[in-house]
Amino acid sequence: MCGIFGCILKNSNVAPIIHSSLKRLEYRGYDSVGIATLHNGTIHIKKDQGKIDEVHRIHNLDEMEGNVGVGHTRWATHGAPLKVNAHPHVDCTGQIAVVHNGIIENYSELKEELENAGHIFVSRTDTEVIPHLIEEVLKENSSASLTDAVLAALKRLCGSYAIAVISAKEPEKIVCARNESPLVLGLADNAIYCASDLTAFLPMTNKAIIVNDGELAVLSGSNYEIKRISDGITVVRQPKIIDWTPEMAVKQGYPHFMLKEIHEQPETLRNTLRLQEHYLDLMATFLDRANEVFLVACGTSYHACLAASYMFSKLAFLATYPVYASEFVEQHGKSVNIDSTILAVSQSGETADTLAAVTASQQRAATILGLTNVIGSTLSRVSRVYIGQQSGPEIGVAATKTFTSQLSILAQLAFRLSKKRGKISQDEMDCLAEKMEQLPQIVEAVILMQEEKVKALAHKYKDAKIFFFLGRGVNTATAYEGRLKLMEIAYVPAIAFPAGESKHGPISLIEPGFPVIFICPKDGVTHKTLIGNMMEMKARGASIISIIEEDDEEVKKLSDDYIEVPKGIPEVLSPIPFVVPLQLFAYYMALEKGLNPDMPRNLAKSVTVK
Ligand code: M6R
Repeated sequence: MCGIFGCILKNSNVAPIIHSSLKRLEYRGYDSVGIATLHNGTIHIKKDQGKIDEVHRIHNLDEMEGNVGVGHTRWATHGAPLKVNAHPHVDCTGQIAVVHNGIIENYSELKEELENAGHIFVSRTDTEVIPHLIEEVLKENSSASLTDAVLAALKRLCGSYAIAVISAKEPEKIVCARNESPLVLGLADNAIYCASDLTAFLPMTNKAIIVNDGELAVLSGSNYEIKRISDGITVVRQPKIIDWTPEMAVKQGYPHFMLKEIHEQPETLRNTLRLQEHYLDLMATFLDRANEVFLVACGTSYHACLAASYMFSKLAFLATYPVYASEFVEQHGKSVNIDSTILAVSQSGETADTLAAVTASQQRAATILGLTNVIGSTLSRVSRVYIGQQSGPEIGVAATKTFTSQLSILAQLAFRLSKKRGKISQDEMDCLAEKMEQLPQIVEAVILMQEEKVKALAHKYKDAKIFFFLGRGVNTATAYEGRLKLMEIAYVPAIAFPAGESKHGPISLIEPGFPVIFICPKDGVTHKTLIGNMMEMKARGASIISIIEEDDEEVKKLSDDYIEVPKGIPEVLSPIPFVVPLQLFAYYMALEKGLNPDMPRNLAKSVTVK
């Protein structure tokens, strides 16, 4: 997730406006920043790695001439957060500049094709193919307008994008376009803007137009024209008056970042399906060769590791050991050696306990692999191979979208390894791959269909003093995660166990009305045994709340309340949609108690002390 911005002003330089607007978009990403303006028929660029204030201190972003320009604040996906990878990116002639938010899936093929045609690339980004593609179209057809060239270039792209393009040859224009990444236009008397979201221009104007997927907009003077990318036909759309406060705009109208981030999961899951294959392959190769594999993390990331241990075992027949990072050195510090592989998982890439486990393992010559949301973080730097999970910044203290992304990537790794090892049939692989592709829609459906029900559930159980979360198999991890969410933001004590363990002790707590939440997907052998556990609880008067598949009539009958998830999800993938109602439940329980879910007491987003 990055922030893009473009602006045409009637009478003054755009750079200070771009700078202040990018500051408002900084929550979308902040590892590097850049601005391009058009002045005297030339494109001028200032860009560098670092947060906007740091870059401004060095380069004075306000001191650039020109009344047309674009800007970008970056959250690295392809290419490290370095100056050379910062946007805007230009073509070979420096006459076309592009800012981009999204992921171009087929950039390697396009880059190869363009390099063969003589184009020189300087960055490691996917974005750089765009200005070169536009340049190529203009080279082949010198009479084509910038708009035509952008339209033609867009037709070659697979993936997601919101882009803004300027050209020295048509210096009064910005051409912007969108597919699966947000883009809005802002209209004012003496200016026109395009941006990733309203926040960017809200202090200047509240008159906005949403650009839809598959559309391009041409801005010139204070006019705009929207066209369909597929056929270039003009689309008529009137502006709307937006009555959001700037604070509401940063949260895109959601009352809290946590809710916004829960709702972003269809998009962040889509991003995980666009990962560069060779990183997944490389990591799968390391795992394949490893003698012993430890999955090391804290908190929610640990729960992703726990789920992953089931995925690796079931799909790739690889035994892995999920370990709390804070316990790792005590538990395994002496036995780790050159044949050990540590897959460290950390959203921030800066969690002190996780890094301590990594450092201790490195000192004993173990191989370090990393999965993190922050490219450029310590974890990404110390890992032999790392994968960036591409979830964009997560601001709510409670991890939500980054958890489902971690699960999706770990499941993809398990698939790869399975393929390499020939452990499951082609049919099973195909079915899993198909379901994996459907996960963004499935999660979308869960949010759309069940949010109100979950809200009502939170209202019903708002005074409960304690909850049980029970799951089996891979959903033991989901149970742990549901408990953690509820405890950390709603301050409700909760207990989670693999359901089979409950009768070895915890069941003694049960008395009439005790709420027990079961995570109960239908696929796999755990369904039957979980029903047994439900009966045991019910017989002792527990209130059964179950998260089930749509048509699971048997469990519906046993439940006092249930939340439904679309059917047909393979068990190994089920934590991804099944955790979503639990995230919502914790969120609405916090609201019921008058708490701010974004800022739970005593916690920090990134725990950098041991
Ligand atoms: O950045 P990390 O993934 O390493 O963070 C690990 C935990 O601190 C984190 O998951 C924490 O438990 C969250 N508050 C969970 O919502």
